[in-house]
Amino acid sequence: MSKIIVLDFGGQYKELIARRVRELNIYSEVHSGSLSAERIRNMKPDGLILTGGPNSVYLANSQLCDPGIFELGIPILGICYGMQLMAHMLGGVVAPGEVREYGVVRAVYRGEERNVLMSHFDRVKTLPDGFECTAYTDICPIAAFENRHKRFYAAQFHPEVTHTERGIEIIGDFLFNACELTADYFLTDIAERLCDDIRKQVGGNRVLLALSGGVDSSVVAALLAKAVPGQAECVFVDHGLMRLNEGDEIESVFSKRDLEFKRINAEERFLAVLRGQTEPETKRKIIGEEFIKTFIDTVSEPGEYFFAQGTIYPDVIESGASETGGAAVIKSHHNVGGFPEKYKSRFLGITEPLRGLFKDEVRQIGRMLGLPNAIVERQPFPGPGLGIRIIGEVTPDKLDILRRADAIFREETDTLPFDTRPDQYFAVLTNLRTVGVIGDARNYGYLLALRAVQTDDFMTCKYSKLPHELLDHTAQRITNEIPEIGRVVYDITDKPPATLEWE
Ligand code: XMP
Repeated sequence: MSKIIVLDFGGQYKELIARRVRELNIYSEVHSGSLSAERIRNMKPDGLILTGGPNSVYLANSQLCDPGIFELGIPILGICYGMQLMAHMLGGVVAPGEVREYGVVRAVYRGEERNVLMSHFDRVKTLPDGFECTAYTDICPIAAFENRHKRFYAAQFHPEVTHTERGIEIIGDFLFNACELTADYFLTDIAERLCDDIRKQVGGNRVLLALSGGVDSSVVAALLAKAVPGQAECVFVDHGLMRLNEGDEIESVFSKRDLEFKRINAEERFLAVLRGQTEPETKRKIIGEEFIKTFIDTVSEPGEYFFAQGTIYPDVIESGASETGGAAVIKSHHNVGGFPEKYKSRFLGITEPLRGLFKDEVRQIGRMLGLPNAIVERQPFPGPGLGIRIIGEVTPDKLDILRRADAIFREETDTLPFDTRPDQYFAVLTNLRTVGVIGDARNYGYLLALRAVQTDDFMTCKYSKLPHELLDHTAQRITNEIPEIGRVVYDITDKPPATLEWE
């Protein structure tokens, strides 16, 4: 299979570049820009893409690349900092500009005007020998360049973002003309290949999966059912902190597949350990530990199983594991079922079939495997569940109130067209009660908060500017249908400074 390596110099679009390449049906991976030319040669890429980054190539402590990468004889595309790096390493001059060029600007690229996204202060002042300028803007005389003979290309603007008109064509040109590749990365084949890999790895052994009902573990379950029918055991620990009907939905999807589905109804157990607990971090810790204990109680002999995990490619990139070749360390925060290494090492081995895939690819494979939209499009849901969306002590009554309110908010928000829906939306039950009036009587009900955000990566977010009619209608329904709730507020804080979840 063809392969493009994206060398990362700290640019925020590294994953986007790799995804764009994959969307053009060429496999790509992101690696650190500090990789040696020798290691890159051993990976046998068909081309390299150098990403943007926050540094200045001419400063002493800036990250450069191994000069040997320009001797590998493979095509290279430099983007933004990657272009400056290419110029600098090959004898051109990069210097600070007079003004910052930021946002969508008009550029002339190969004689044609188009909008491009720029984000730079430094610029290439002098081209290296043998290079030609291929684009300019009003304030940037060298906005792209090339050396056709060496098959080196570069752009100061970002072809990977949709704000750049026909940017994808520039990436396509690089792949199909400069690298002379033929599209050969198709998800339909990938699903088959993943199944083959699973079969080869686990042989006739049994496989154990902690199924949370989230997208990643669900797709792993569906893959296991297809790859090794009857050999997989999927344990779904229902901690009683799921949303309305969620546990039943998960059960109804997976109990029909060719795997052994075990649902552990552990609500009482979790409520017992949470009794009297009000401190957020303590609650998170208790839920995490109880989850692992409950799961482990179901497995008597780990040594008879392979352990399957839903690690995906961004987890691997974030942890830097792609450089070391070691197992991915998933941020504990993001995976409450993050089992201790000591426990995992008791299994026959670990299988992580989605390790090379991006979230949207995982979703597509899920669809191909016939998983319902409710699972494939599921918004992220924290491991500790509603336990951290009830401020203060978690009780069965509060869980019931929050479940109903949250379901109303989601139902109303789901009436928005798909592409205008927030990336995550949910209700939070506060520990505060306020005075209101119902009929002629005084009411003393809970304060409920609604949270809805737009985000690409969940590391930062903006609150969603939901239509007021939607908020009106939701608040009316919630206060009418759930008398225990006296007041509804909408959270208008971004992250930072707030986090997405309230606890
Ligand atoms: P925060 O609250 O940190 O959340 O801004 C960022 C994203 O992570 C989700 N989240 C979690 N996911 N286990 C998870 O699997 C957790 O313990 C956890 N805590 C937060 C949160 O829903 C949001 O999408």
